[in-house]
Amino acid sequence: MNSEEFRKYAHELVDWMADYLDEIESYPVKSQSKPGEILHNLPVHPPRDGEPFEKIFRDFQEVILPGITHWQHPKFFAYFPANSSRISVLAEMLTATLGAQCMSWITSPAATELEERVMQWLREMIGLPESFTGVIQDTASTATICALLTAREKHSDFQINKKGLYTHRKHIVYCSTESHSSIEKAVKVIGLGSANLRKIPVDDTYAIAPGRLHNQIDDDIDKGYIPLAVVAALGTTGSTAIDSIKKLGDITEKYSLWLHVDAAYAGTAVVLPEYRWMIDGIKHVDSFVFNPHKWMFTNFDCSAYFVQDPDALVRTFEILPEYLKTNDEKPVKNYRDWGLQLGRRFRALKLWFVIRNYGIAGLQNKIRHHISMAQELARTIDNSTEFELMAPVPLNTVCFRYHPDGIDDPEKLDEINEELLEHLNASGKMFATHTRLSGIYVIRLVIGQTEVEERHVNETWEFICETIELIESV
Ligand SMILES: Cc1ncc(COP(=O)(O)O)c(C=O)c1O
Repeated sequence: MNSEEFRKYAHELVDWMADYLDEIESYPVKSQSKPGEILHNLPVHPPRDGEPFEKIFRDFQEVILPGITHWQHPKFFAYFPANSSRISVLAEMLTATLGAQCMSWITSPAATELEERVMQWLREMIGLPESFTGVIQDTASTATICALLTAREKHSDFQINKKGLYTHRKHIVYCSTESHSSIEKAVKVIGLGSANLRKIPVDDTYAIAPGRLHNQIDDDIDKGYIPLAVVAALGTTGSTAIDSIKKLGDITEKYSLWLHVDAAYAGTAVVLPEYRWMIDGIKHVDSFVFNPHKWMFTNFDCSAYFVQDPDALVRTFEILPEYLKTNDEKPVKNYRDWGLQLGRRFRALKLWFVIRNYGIAGLQNKIRHHISMAQELARTIDNSTEFELMAPVPLNTVCFRYHPDGIDDPEKLDEINEELLEHLNASGKMFATHTRLSGIYVIRLVIGQTEVEERHVNETWEFICETIELIESV
């Protein structure tokens, strides 16, 4: 493709992108495609000769688009959002055009130094003390692996990295039964074994019960195990329950354990001064992760990871083969040593664009608005005779179920709600997902999509109320 063609097609694409975002509500939120359908429409073999852009783009629209679930649709209430914004997309276009691989300072000084600065901005925006240093990771899952690896290495005086785990007694990691699966994955990946992850019961708000954690640690010490780290959830995936960092911090302090905070989704709320209470006790925290790619309008992927001891992080990962040695005039940051992968995308650029374009006040307004819409919906559900709220709503995730009069059998209620959710999602008019809280099937609505407004929430609620008529299992 020559420059002239590039310019022409890029303009076409930008027009398509702008139209797509303007018309996104005309698409079914959840892809209606059946398993294997897209694959069936893709040629089994790659083309021998190059194909023209027009043909590729037509296939994108005809073959690929029907298999896309529209995450940027304002009626996307599923999982947690992976928010984008127009400003973030523009930055991604530049990132792709530069095509810089930002593993070392020298491979793009601006990428390293911008990352350093925007992480300082973010630290200030969410009220973390200046003792924290930030680095961008691809995902919270990776950040948690980094946290637990650093905890392991610091505890073993960096000997496990050298000699392996063979001579060590069992390390134990603690989180709650509501913690995200990425904690268990991290424990598996770093070789501690998922049997050595203790999932501590939660209280009636679905936050970890600190007393139960305390007892479990004592019990493990009595058995000769080595308690290593506690992972606190600020915003569990099920219902955004908030573990008390302060209470967990008292425990981790007492036993000299690493305290990692997984605030993947809800960390963004701390941009609001009225939600700063969520990080009470932050001085006890060793590492903290939250995802601007979830609720801060920054394209996937962009995960903000903060640590109190960057030297320990770097010591955990640093390796310096000859081919990466540089003669820098001054000490510089080489972010390749701050995490798992060597190659790194220039993620700081989109974060910089987003923070500057929204401003702190713009971000706060949006986040507040999302929370207030969710609180309003929670009140509606609470006042309804046919639906019930199934968990507190501290932020913008609303867990509820349909509970028709006269039906109290738990399995029947699960069945009814499963059927309700299937109808809702099959309609293409909205997309929500479910979880189980205390073993009960509940429907979750997360009101956090970038462009979601009252009318989307109201229409969705009306639609849910209408759809209960279609449930056959009642
Ligand atoms: C609480 C929590 N932690 C971690 C994750 C994993 O996030 P990531 O996809 O960035 O690894 C999620 C994903 O939804 C989450 O909800």
